[in-house]
Amino acid sequence: MDVISVIRTKRDRGELSPEQIDWVIDEYTRGAVADEQMSALAMAILLNGMNRTEIARWTAAMIASGERMNFDALSRPTADKHSTGGVGDKITLPLAPLVAACGAAVPQLSGRGLGHTGGTLDKLESIPGWRALLSNAEMLDVLESTGAVICAAGDGLAPADKKLYALRDVTGTVEAIPLIASSIMSKKIAEGTGSLVLDVKVGSGAFMKNIEDARELASTMVGLGTDHGVKTVALLTDMATPLGLTAGNALEVRESVEVLAGGGPADVVELTIALAREMLTAAGLPDADPEKALRDGSAMDVWRRMIQAQGGDPDATLPVAREQHVINASSSGVLTKLDAYAVGVAAWRLGAGRARKEDQVQAGAGVELHAKPGDKVVAGQPLMTLHTDTPEKFAYAIEALDGGVLTAPEGTDFVPSPIVLD
Ligand code: URA
Repeated sequence: MDVISVIRTKRDRGELSPEQIDWVIDEYTRGAVADEQMSALAMAILLNGMNRTEIARWTAAMIASGERMNFDALSRPTADKHSTGGVGDKITLPLAPLVAACGAAVPQLSGRGLGHTGGTLDKLESIPGWRALLSNAEMLDVLESTGAVICAAGDGLAPADKKLYALRDVTGTVEAIPLIASSIMSKKIAEGTGSLVLDVKVGSGAFMKNIEDARELASTMVGLGTDHGVKTVALLTDMATPLGLTAGNALEVRESVEVLAGGGPADVVELTIALAREMLTAAGLPDADPEKALRDGSAMDVWRRMIQAQGGDPDATLPVAREQHVINASSSGVLTKLDAYAVGVAAWRLGAGRARKEDQVQAGAGVELHAKPGDKVVAGQPLMTLHTDTPEKFAYAIEALDGGVLTAPEGTDFVPSPIVLD
């Protein structure tokens, strides 16, 4: 077998054989297939696609590139959630302790932000002392003792995906349904969860800009999970506008704690409860009551224990950016557009995200929204506050918002999109 023939097969719209797939993933993981060869293959896959048989084999080969975890010894059923990524998507933070408080074990392996979408680990790292890197034994310990753990995936889990995802990120080959589906599902299947709820985001702030592509991605991932014995379901949810009122690391932790305390923005609460219900049903606990666990403080108790078990101080003051800049409404009327992508890029430029993997994020940076689509606004009222430690970035962030915020004259009929689309 040689790599050029594998690349040519996909370049010429052929079907990759199981042997070709196993071979190329294995050789790439071991370093025998070079990055430039794998990027040529990834681009051929992006342009020419893969059928379901190829995707299933590609996923199996990525799982086989590393270790598999196993939670069979746990006393509770496991439930995990994966979001395909968005702006202001802090749902994992309240959701994991909430589902744990209702009786499931939640092993939540999460990632860092890249580009305009935030990362759960970056958000939690704004809590003084909190550690994302745990050994497998530590992870199991936190999971057993608190019911939930949110941490980085160890190096041994789907190492082929780690290499390939970093390569796709710098070669314009992220947005391919077969590659996204196999990347996400190889990690989730290797992680060993018994059930999985996928939150597939649709809209300007998501990878999938339209509902047809989102449906295709969801059904591909559900098929992969089901074939590997993981009870998998998917929700399609809106990402045309940011979730909640914050985009940025410490800002989003603050908002998540508000949700756990029984408050928080309505859209974040609605999606957290909807996903919790799906996870609990998938884990065989359909009668659990997540709304009660938010009301009676039991979800907050799990949050505090989970943060402490990973070295964090749940009572610590969260970092605040050194500088703020308020953007006011330029006219009165109804806010009809607050574009998720524009807000995500603004937060990223303010320092909440990173342009390269090795960049540091600013814990306090980001965007705080004071109005959402459908709200009435009056000229001169604050629409959003920008936060950063590097005020020279304000102009650059404001430029990203150009065209992303629209107001229609008062009286205009405007119905905001629902959160859960399907
Ligand atoms: N998240 C992943 O883990 N992989 C992708 O390809 C895209 C989003």
